[in-house]
Amino acid sequence: MCGIIGINSNKPVSGTIINSLKKLEYRGYDSAGIATLSSGQINEVKSEGRVDNLEKNSLVQNMNGTIGIGHVRWATHGLPNSINAHPHSSQNVSVVHNGIIENSTLLKKFLVGKGHKFKSQTDTEVIVHLITENLKTEDIVNSIKKTLKALHGSFALGIIFKDHPDLIIGARRGSPLAVGYGPNENYLGSDSYALKSMTNKITYLNDGEFCVIKKDHVEFFDEEGVKVNKKVLELSSEEKKYDKGDYKHFMAKEIEEQPTTLKNGIKEYLDNSNNDINIYNFPWKVNEISSITLIGCGTAYHSCLMAKYWFEELTSLDVNIDIASEFRYRKNRFKSDTLYVFVSQSGETADTYAALDLCNRNNMKTCSVVNVIESSIARDSKFVLPIHCGTEIGVASTKAFVGQMLILYILALKLGLMRKDIEKEIFLEKLKDLKKLPELVKETLLTDNKIQTISSTFNEAKGSMFLGRGFSYPIALEGALKLKELSYIHAEGYPAGEMKHGPLALIEEGMPVVVLAPRDNYYKKTISNMQEVIARGAKVLLITNKSKDEIVSENIWETIEVETANDDLLPFLLTIPLQKLAYYSALKKGYDIDKPRNLAKSVTVE
Ligand code: AGP
Ligand code: GLU
Repeated sequence: MCGIIGINSNKPVSGTIINSLKKLEYRGYDSAGIATLSSGQINEVKSEGRVDNLEKNSLVQNMNGTIGIGHVRWATHGLPNSINAHPHSSQNVSVVHNGIIENSTLLKKFLVGKGHKFKSQTDTEVIVHLITENLKTEDIVNSIKKTLKALHGSFALGIIFKDHPDLIIGARRGSPLAVGYGPNENYLGSDSYALKSMTNKITYLNDGEFCVIKKDHVEFFDEEGVKVNKKVLELSSEEKKYDKGDYKHFMAKEIEEQPTTLKNGIKEYLDNSNNDINIYNFPWKVNEISSITLIGCGTAYHSCLMAKYWFEELTSLDVNIDIASEFRYRKNRFKSDTLYVFVSQSGETADTYAALDLCNRNNMKTCSVVNVIESSIARDSKFVLPIHCGTEIGVASTKAFVGQMLILYILALKLGLMRKDIEKEIFLEKLKDLKKLPELVKETLLTDNKIQTISSTFNEAKGSMFLGRGFSYPIALEGALKLKELSYIHAEGYPAGEMKHGPLALIEEGMPVVVLAPRDNYYKKTISNMQEVIARGAKVLLITNKSKDEIVSENIWETIEVETANDDLLPFLLTIPLQKLAYYSALKKGYDIDKPRNLAKSVTVE
């Protein structure tokens, strides 16, 4: 559930381990600890609470050793205190563990019978004693193999040995684990974030594998102890310095970065070798969840609304969505079989945080989809799905919106598969389509000049409307929000089918109306609604996707065609022209695009 670091080096490692543990703080944890080998023995320091407490401990400040392991714990077995904090050590073996050992009670009984003395209440400590026991008769690789076979449950492990001071063992089943490569030193980490500040060269362990990390090389083994060759991946070293480059505004840059946002997200979550989605450390069983509530503010709320359509399509879960500022004050019926998902770019939005806090205080299952992984929302959620879109500076959210939608779509697909709500073949088909998305967004970004000209009409108008049905409705809301926040033009997003219940009265001669009508199941219905507004004098900008079928409608003012994708993915493509419309409209008006009036990037007040 929580975080692991291991470093095998020529230099003292405790400072670097502490810094790397800080990078894992976004996961939420209750205690932290470190163990190194020095003067021929295992030295272990642990503390309750933040990594800061550990860092301040004088024992850590004087800690020697060029090989070590560190951990941030999220307690599953035993109180969150310094005794139960990891590492757990015998005289010869020290272990950090993420996950749960389901047969720990039985194993403990067996080990106590053999004379082993336990210090903590954790399930983890059985691993320490089991390895110690197996080392009496086996060499290092076989003792690990034998130990792993005896464990039921999920784990990512980092292990050091007094009698083998040149190596760290890493092992995984269920929980993720990665190896990093540096100059004359190598690392172990529970995710790439932990390793990013040290290296961008990484190998992920597959389920069941373990590895022996030496300073100058790493060997990998499958669960039978047979050596396997693994690829070294190069992670993008983005994030270091974030400037506008050749762009006039951050927003323009961030719009153009969206294919990369999607590529990065897909790379982080798609397991290409197994044709699967990698959310292995998801802490709950699927049969423990029968409904999902998605909560956010502003643009993040729009991605929740978008996700409602996907979750309903791909899973049999009951789906609710909520605006955080409403949720936090309502009389909510908290249900333990509900997964509460908090969506936020900044991870600091006060209302979203308060809603999360409320759910945590009611012991609910809380998960966040955030961009800033060191943020409060990320830290205090029980499970985090990072967006991986890099820094977003423009107050108007663009690439983070696309990133949020991607992660929510991926989560819906994976839960749909795990719950057997969708067939494996459909899952695989959708995964295949998803991999093409970055390229389709790139192509759609090329539809440029027309939007610049079109934006003048919006600037001259008193107000505008954005209409869509089904998957396109949340995008209509988002398009309208972008235009109001950047160009200060009144823009109303509406479900196209609702116009006749009131808003049609607003339509007058020459009013610009954006109609999102991709060739999906709703196409014909939306086109009828479009005709209703055209009949009342609206200047319609139709946004659809490329198709060989002709558009059968007269008097459309302008048409923009985005690329074609399966229905689920069209919302990503429809978003692009709307972002550009808002951008060019504000540009022509000479407004401060990256910092629109009255708004802040991180809304930390209620
Ligand atoms: C988006 O363009 C807005 N600036 C705003 O609606 C934003 O999405 C909202 O304040 C939520 O922020 P968050 O994603 O950081 O929680
Ligand atoms: N189950 C272990 C414990 O309670 C590990 C928890 C974790 O993943 O942090 O200590």
